[in-house]
Amino acid sequence: METRLIDVHDDEVCARAYEVIVASKDHERPWHEPPSLAETLVEWRHVDEAEPMEMWGAWDGDELVGVATIWLPMSDNTSMVWHDVQVHPAHRRRAAGSALVERIVHRAGEEGRSTLVTDLMVPPESEDHPYRRFAERHGFRLSNTEIIRHLQLPVAEDVLGRQAEHARARWEGEYRLETHVGGVPPELQPSLCAVMNQLAVDAPTGDIDFEEETLTPERYEEYLALFRRQGRVRLTTVAVHEATGDVVAYTDLMLPSGAPSVAWQWGTLVHKAHRGRRLGMAVKVENLRRLQDDHPERQRVVTGNDDTNAWMVSINEDLGFRIVELCPAYQRRL
Ligand SMILES: CC(C)(COP(=O)(O)OP(=O)(O)OC[C@H]1O[C@@H](n2cnc3c(N)ncnc32)[C@H](O)[C@@H]1OP(=O)(O)O)[C@@H](O)C(=O)NCCC(=O)NCCS
Repeated sequence: METRLIDVHDDEVCARAYEVIVASKDHERPWHEPPSLAETLVEWRHVDEAEPMEMWGAWDGDELVGVATIWLPMSDNTSMVWHDVQVHPAHRRRAAGSALVERIVHRAGEEGRSTLVTDLMVPPESEDHPYRRFAERHGFRLSNTEIIRHLQLPVAEDVLGRQAEHARARWEGEYRLETHVGGVPPELQPSLCAVMNQLAVDAPTGDIDFEEETLTPERYEEYLALFRRQGRVRLTTVAVHEATGDVVAYTDLMLPSGAPSVAWQWGTLVHKAHRGRRLGMAVKVENLRRLQDDHPERQRVVTGNDDTNAWMVSINEDLGFRIVELCPAYQRRL
């Protein structure tokens, strides 16, 4: 089994890499709705200086059968490599996955990185699942587990109304809510980035120690431009503290262009100094309302929360999210 770097500008190889990744992620997951090849290519060809990406292929003769993607954070968490290994279901158990992991370990060494981090998708009752066995066989240890929940849309207006009113009693007067499509305006970006940078440290992540991230308004704008080129819609609701004009809470929904019935819940965070005022529920309900009003084609929201994140989980359960699968994170120290 040979591993080679994938040229992200080679249309033919990229189309096959996409096919391999989608077949692997679709396997035994009928609900999985992948983004389109077109929006995926935009992402693969975008050079993110803060987190360069590389894709490695495993070839069985002339056939590409597995793909490993690695990301190298450059301005925070610089001892780590994030990665993802996917092998086409028709080509598993022939050492493609192992060859890719070996390649990644080698690359991590070359880059002077000490920790490999990955996550995988398994059914709820899955202690002995093949993907876990594969990771363990390669020296990875379970770090923490996110529970993936789906929310069927639309959520009844009386549920949203009840939750919104319940929350409003606590925050009204001191904060205002704003929903923005395609990113927040420049004056809110510095405080939004500061809050977003807390997510990696504040959300529970087991024994992987993440550093605070270093998102800046410049990079935020760069990502917004990338999403526009992908035809994606980003819905962001923020809570602005009236006294300071700063964003103190946010939630993001991402609507992929090629997966028209799904919306991905990205981050939600309330700044430490402003917790306990139900701002988390407030921003989520407001964003969901905008999603339902403007995008009736979206049939579900997909979200993941650490199983120990009781606060976020209870908000999601109150809104009607239900468990579908697990996303355990594994790490290996080199
Ligand atoms: C996990 C995955 C990458 C394995 O790819 P693969 O090419 O089949 O892996 P390999 O053939 O190199 O398997 C190496 C070892 O992993 C373990 N393993 C892999 N699949 C297994 C299975 N179905 N049952 C039991 N053990 C399994 C075995 O120990 C195996 O060694 P063996 O064949 O000598 O017994 C593949 O199933 C996949 O793409 N899954 C979806 C994505 C994912 O979960 N990636 C893992 C990220 S770490």
